[in-house]
Parts: sequence; C-alpha cells; structure tokens
Amino acid sequence: MKYHVREVRVVDNVKTGGDIYLLTLAAPAIAAAALPGQFIHLRCGEGLDPLLRRPFSIYGVDRKNSLVQTWYQVVGKGTDLLRKAKAGKTLDVIGPLGKGFFTDIAGRNAGLVGGGMGIAPLMFLGGELAQNNRVHSFFGVRSKAQLPPGLSFPTPLVATEDGSAGRRGLVTDVLEQELQRQKMDILYACGPRAMLQQVVKLAQKYDIPLQVSLESAMACGVGACLGCACEKSGADGESWLKACQDGPVFWAAEVKWE
Ligand SMILES: Cc1cc2nc3c(=O)[nH]c(=O)nc-3n(C[C@H](O)[C@H](O)[C@H](O)COP(=O)(O)OP(=O)(O)OC[C@H]3O[C@@H](n4cnc5c(N)ncnc54)[C@H](O)[C@@H]3O)c2cc1C
Ligand code: FES
Repeated sequence: MKYHVREVRVVDNVKTGGDIYLLTLAAPAIAAAALPGQFIHLRCGEGLDPLLRRPFSIYGVDRKNSLVQTWYQVVGKGTDLLRKAKAGKTLDVIGPLGKGFFTDIAGRNAGLVGGGMGIAPLMFLGGELAQNNRVHSFFGVRSKAQLPPGLSFPTPLVATEDGSAGRRGLVTDVLEQELQRQKMDILYACGPRAMLQQVVKLAQKYDIPLQVSLESAMACGVGACLGCACEKSGADGESWLKACQDGPVFWAAEVKWE
C-alpha cells in the first residue's frame, strides 16, 4: 500500500558528516507500511523546479513515534534544496514504493554489503534482520565522514578509500576475507554497479543467494516511463526490469550484469 501525503512534517534534517544528511519525517501511514528496501519519492522544492520527485531509500522507521528517515548525500539541485528544509517545514512525499528485501529468514548468517549511499537501505534491513538472525555488515566508503550514524545491529567491518576508518581498500576484499572464515546463508547488497558486480562474483564463487538493490536513476517512480529500466538476465532478445516497480530489490540472478 502506498500513500501520497502532501504535507509531511520535517522533524529533523541534520548533517551526519561531509555533505550527507539524515532527514526525519513525521509520516504515520508510511512508517506503518514501510518494509526494508522500499523507498520514498519526494518533492524537494516548493515550485516546479526541479519538476521530478527524487527517490530515497528508507533508512529507518520508528513505528512507535510514526517517523521515517532517509539518509542522503547532496549531489545536485534536488538534494541541495532538501538540505535546506528546516524542522517544521512540510514536504510532499509518496511512499513506501517498490519491492523490498526478502526478510523471511531466522537463525541465519546474513551478510549486508553496502557501498557509499548504498548503505542507506541496509540500515533498515539490518535492524529488522537482527531480531532473528546474525547480521554481518560490510560497509565501503571514501572516508570516515561518509559512515552512517546510529547502528542498531553489530558493528560493521569497514573499508575506506583513504584509510581513515577500518581497512584501506575495497569492501569486497573485506567481504571475501570474511567469506573465507565463515559461511553466510544469504547476502544483500546495495551500492555502485562495479561493487555489485564484484559481490555477484563472490556470491557465485561461495554459492550464496544474493539480493541486490538497484538505485538506477528514476523519473516517474511508479512504472510509467521506463526511465529506470535495467536489463533482465537470460531473456531472449531485449527484456527489461523496472527498478521502481519490479525492484529496486532483485535476486542477483534476475539481472544481466555484463
Ligand atoms: C531507489 C533509489 C534509492 C535511492 N536512495 C538514496 C539514498 O538513500 N540516499 C542518497 O543519497 N541517494 C539515494 N538515491 C539517489 C538519489 O535519488 C539521487 O542522488 C537524487 O535523486 C539526486 O537528485 P539531485 O536533484 O540532487 O541531483 P541531480 O541534479 O538530479 O543529479 C546530480 C548528479 O547525480 C547523478 N544521479 C542522480 N540520480 C542518480 C542515481 N540514482 N544514481 C547515480 N547517480 C545519480 C546525476 O546523473 C548527476 O550527475 C536513490 C536512488 C534510487 C533510484
Ligand atoms: S522511474 Fe518511471 S518506470 Fe521506473
């Protein structure tokens, strides 16, 4: 069930490091319905510029207090406007949208692999899975300032490009080291395509089911424009998946990677 709420109140919009912000919204209906891996589509400005809504993964939900959080990086016009939204202002929000992660597991070793802002949906997922599973998370960022605030599940193994936290290098190297040490029952990944391609290879090598969240650029967000199309694996001729509607979460085997 999705909701279009024209006046969602901003509770907080705080910088967590560098050009990254944590936005907290009072959105009871969306908070009650949201599942890990889903996203909200929000209008960043008041006028028609930018015309299109911007998609953001749901980073966290506080159902008791009816709050929804997104964690976003300022990269362009929309996110720059969003950064200026002060507590008390209202935003036009549609959500929760898309298909979320498969979470029907218990007593398992679940590995979460996030790169950059792709860590965002894994924070909600990790909190939910940790209630019934052993969660192992692997986060790769450029620098310490890009790490997320407020973990509610075990501390991640971190890789940074500049060596300011955890190990210097790639998150996929840290993941492979851990896979050599212990078996994961399922992997979940979100991040840049190059990182996802490496995670797909590792999942194949170690024979682990993998779900990926594809944050392809989007326009309509509801399946009407094909702006988010990604190629389907094994299809005869051209066949496309719509990240906004069929995803953003897919089993890795559904997606064509090369
Ligand atoms: C399902 C989904 C979930 C997302 N979740 C998050 C999140 O939790 N946190 C977060 O920071 N961002 C997230 N994004 C990306 C976010 O939507 C974009 O960064 C945002 O729309 C940029 O808007 P803008 O107006 O600031 O930038 P624009 O002016 O539209 O673009 C600025 C630059 O960013 C590039 N860009 C825009 N969208 C994307 C994209 N999806 N992937 C790669 N590059 C892009 C543009 O090509 C351009 O170079 C998500 C995207 C999707 C599809
Ligand atoms: S964004 Fe329009 S079809 Fe997905």
